[in-house]
Amino acid sequence: MRIKVLKDGPYEVTGNVPLREMKIGANEAGESTRWVDGKTFKTEETYHLCRCGKSKNKPFCDGSHTHGFDGTETADNMSYDDTAVVYCGDGMELMDDEGLCAVARFCDAAGSTWRLINGAENEALAIRQACDCPSGRLTVVKDGKKIEPKLPREIAVVEDEPEGKHGPLWVRGGIEIEAEDGTVYEVRNRVTLCRCGGSGNKPFCDAMHMEDGK
Ligand code: FES
Repeated sequence: MRIKVLKDGPYEVTGNVPLREMKIGANEAGESTRWVDGKTFKTEETYHLCRCGKSKNKPFCDGSHTHGFDGTETADNMSYDDTAVVYCGDGMELMDDEGLCAVARFCDAAGSTWRLINGAENEALAIRQACDCPSGRLTVVKDGKKIEPKLPREIAVVEDEPEGKHGPLWVRGGIEIEAEDGTVYEVRNRVTLCRCGGSGNKPFCDAMHMEDGK
């Protein structure tokens, strides 16, 4: 399974990667509390996903990028271990790479994850909130081991219904992402790819889709 970033074009997905929709579910207060399964998309062995945000056939590419899309990749290719800040809590740590934030808001649902790590009684909650983070910005570390959710190898198209926004592509379960120049980004269990075309950290989402007009 592989995702290839095409120059100023879409993501080329090969290897029969399942494609589905995942919606952010919120409580009455508007806090993100659960992921809700959406539809599944029928796909072929190879398919192309929109990266410029202009396709009329989202999440698939319809060629709209040919009317002018600068898809230059601006993300560095450093490892998460090298870029994440580590916060020390009570018997656990929290790794945080803010630049990856996709603003899915699970990290604040039942209180700030950064605060929850300071109380051992909140450990399960802190782990759950960090594991619900689609972009892999947050990771709880316990006894020197990163705690990761078990995720199938697939791509989920994120729909942020509480905010009325189309979210990023959530690449789950560790799928290789190859840059236009052939280098491969660090393979991680959770990452989010920009599909609005506006990220300043391409190919990754940096929450620009939350801006009006995206
Ligand atoms: S989809 Fe999040 S910045 Fe483009």
